[in-house]
Amino acid sequence: VRKHLVDSYGREIRDLRISVTDRCNFRCTYCLPEEGIEWLPRSELLTFEEITAISRVFTERFYIESIRLTGGEPTIRAQLPRLVAMLSSLTNHQGQKINLSMTTNGVTLPLLADPLREAGLDRINISLDTLRPDRFLQITKRPQFERVLEGIEAAQSAGFAPIKLNVVAMKGVNDDEILDFAAFGRDHDLQVRFIEFMPLDGANAWDRTDVLSADEILARIESVYPVDPIKRTAAPATTYQYRDGKGSFGIIPTVTKPFCGDCDRVRLSAEGKIRTCLFALDEHDLRGLVRNNVPSEELVAQIESIVSTKWAGHSIGRVNFIRPSKSMSQIGG
Ligand code: GTP
Ligand code: 5AD
Ligand code: SF4
Repeated sequence: VRKHLVDSYGREIRDLRISVTDRCNFRCTYCLPEEGIEWLPRSELLTFEEITAISRVFTERFYIESIRLTGGEPTIRAQLPRLVAMLSSLTNHQGQKINLSMTTNGVTLPLLADPLREAGLDRINISLDTLRPDRFLQITKRPQFERVLEGIEAAQSAGFAPIKLNVVAMKGVNDDEILDFAAFGRDHDLQVRFIEFMPLDGANAWDRTDVLSADEILARIESVYPVDPIKRTAAPATTYQYRDGKGSFGIIPTVTKPFCGDCDRVRLSAEGKIRTCLFALDEHDLRGLVRNNVPSEELVAQIESIVSTKWAGHSIGRVNFIRPSKSMSQIGG
């Protein structure tokens, strides 16, 4: 029997985000300190079998419809296509394959786009914060700009669609590129999503004044392109359609217009802990249970009990906001 997985605010959980590693091959300023962090030892990571066992409980005992793989950088986990193949056999309550997606920095896609597609991955979101090679090096600390562009092309040739391009909008860093990105998305058939900069940066230097707001982003685009809002389906993005038919773009307004009331997700960390919010201050272990091969009933009960602790939402910008001690790379975005 399947149950609705509902938190104490009545929000139903339908989306599971799984971090497969905390490691990354980039050092983006808004996510990781330049020297890196103390990575998890391999023995702490869930195995592919453990990830699949937990995912099976989520999809077969609850109404979970989509699973997204994140990191760190998910593609640096060895043999990721093998995990994708294992997860792609999971089905939702209507007997259809679950929607399986991944968020990546794109640099390994020239090699991996085809194998991931063949293994059953449905969708890819790619992070790219600048269209200027010199600035790319400043933001990511890695000279891989061309390689990421090749990765985007590889994902398109492999048949992924729609492909979303995630752009973290930061004042004084890349806020002069909003219109360049809009044009890039329109020309390359990509849905660009501008993300408000969140207080999860590696340097712990986030300040409200660094955030380019959703209103400012929209105003810049509307100054050039007529757009219409698209009816919202699920958080986090608010999307708009270009009136001339050249696609759409999105804005993820975590800071200025929190969408926690629509939140339908939980996260599974690389070491097997459930995190009920991006900004949660605690996590709840499932690894111990799967490693001990407990009956799935016990996992079901534990997951329900964890989800019931999901809070109403973050309090960024208010005095009671406490930043999580983990970096974005450890949380998975
Ligand atoms: P789609 O299903 O394609 O819409 O994916 P997504 O936007 O949910 O996932 P993606 O990994 O591409 O995340 C885009 C941005 O949204 C990242 O900056 C994430 O950190 C942020 N994000 C994802 N989930 C949440 C969430 O629950 N709350 C908030 N505040 N931000 C989120
Ligand atoms: N604020 C907003 N978005 C961020 N991401 C990483 N760190 C931050 C931050 N501090 C984004 C990445 C990636 C997604 C998983 O999260 O750009 O697209
Ligand atoms: Fe959900 Fe937390 Fe994100 Fe709000 S901040 S949308 S509650 S994960």
